[in-house]
Amino acid sequence: MKGDAINLGELIARQTPGWSLEQPFYLSAELYAIECRGWLAKQWYVLGHSSELSLPGSYIVRELLQESLLLLRDKSGQLRGFYNVCRHRGSRLCTADGRTQRIVCPYHAWAYGLDGALETARALPTGVDPSRLSLHPVAVAEIGGVILASLGAEPSSLEEARRCFEPGLQYLELAGARIAARRQYPTRANWKLVMENFTECYHCPASHPEYCRVMQHVDQYGRDDPVKSAAWVREEARWLKADADSDSPLGAPDRDGVDARYWAGRSPIGNGRLSQSQDGCPVAPLLGGQKRFDGGVTAFVLRPFVYLLAANDYATLFQFLPTGPESTDVVISWLVNGKATDEAVDVDRMVWLWDVTTLQDKVIVEQNAQGVRSQDYTPGPYTTLESGSARLVADYLAGLGEN
Ligand code: FES
Ligand SMILES: [Fe+2]
Repeated sequence: MKGDAINLGELIARQTPGWSLEQPFYLSAELYAIECRGWLAKQWYVLGHSSELSLPGSYIVRELLQESLLLLRDKSGQLRGFYNVCRHRGSRLCTADGRTQRIVCPYHAWAYGLDGALETARALPTGVDPSRLSLHPVAVAEIGGVILASLGAEPSSLEEARRCFEPGLQYLELAGARIAARRQYPTRANWKLVMENFTECYHCPASHPEYCRVMQHVDQYGRDDPVKSAAWVREEARWLKADADSDSPLGAPDRDGVDARYWAGRSPIGNGRLSQSQDGCPVAPLLGGQKRFDGGVTAFVLRPFVYLLAANDYATLFQFLPTGPESTDVVISWLVNGKATDEAVDVDRMVWLWDVTTLQDKVIVEQNAQGVRSQDYTPGPYTTLESGSARLVADYLAGLGEN
């Protein structure tokens, strides 16, 4: 397979709907390079949280699709994003997070304002217009505390997702939250294997005993048992009516809506639990305007890469960052109420569920990648419990063909 030039149209046309993809989609450096210039570049990625850019002049340096980006808060409080590349001869500008009034290149000291405009460049020849040497911007957005970026010249619109997310994020005061923990899970697998895995729970009973113990929906909704699924749908409705926080602006995720490009909604953890901790007891003070623990989880999803899941006391913000044809970084940040003291947050018990689950996912996804490298690998059918993965792959193929 390696070494053959890719005929994209033929490759896309050859894929069987409802089946996993052929080997080049998971291994090929050439196809990955095509994705980075096209389909992957157009998507939005979580790059951080507003608390990392709390002051004018605060900046963070983050990698996205092999590009180094500089995200900063300008003097007016606006978020801005630039390629971390000097307009003189291309030096990296910043190598670590910090705070500054001007961005000064370490090579020949060209200096840029926080709006990216070139302000000082010694001995610039007459006739060279400095206003044409501003830093190159990248698309950035901030939705309720979540910082997003896209490398696309015309990234997909975020306005509808913003309208969908903002009431729920504002209610939880996610913009004023603070990061209580962050962990990275570099995974030796193509991003599609990581995301196919993340968007199905068919594997949960075999791979995630802790998650299954905590989240009642897996047992009741995740086993292709119509009687159990109907019982879970009834339980969700009962919870929303009887137990859920009636002040929350969000209700149940619409089962059809769960297939949408973006959605936000609430559902119960179940099993009498108030939080997603080992014993179901709270691990931090309530987030935002909530007045009590109702044992719910609020999900905010923007396909394919943006996922935020909030229990009453902490939110789990996921980053999925493709880093190569066979590597993906998964980064999780745990957010708590911005006023919560360190003593009030039990970090170990807070990170427990998604840490243990993501470590398990890293193992199974890397084993998946190993099998896909075999000459014996051929695509296989997604089951009815992997509709999320099937949807991800179908959307991707449709979008890839539009390049
Ligand atoms: S490369 Fe930045 S000032 Fe020369
Ligand atoms: Fe998993």
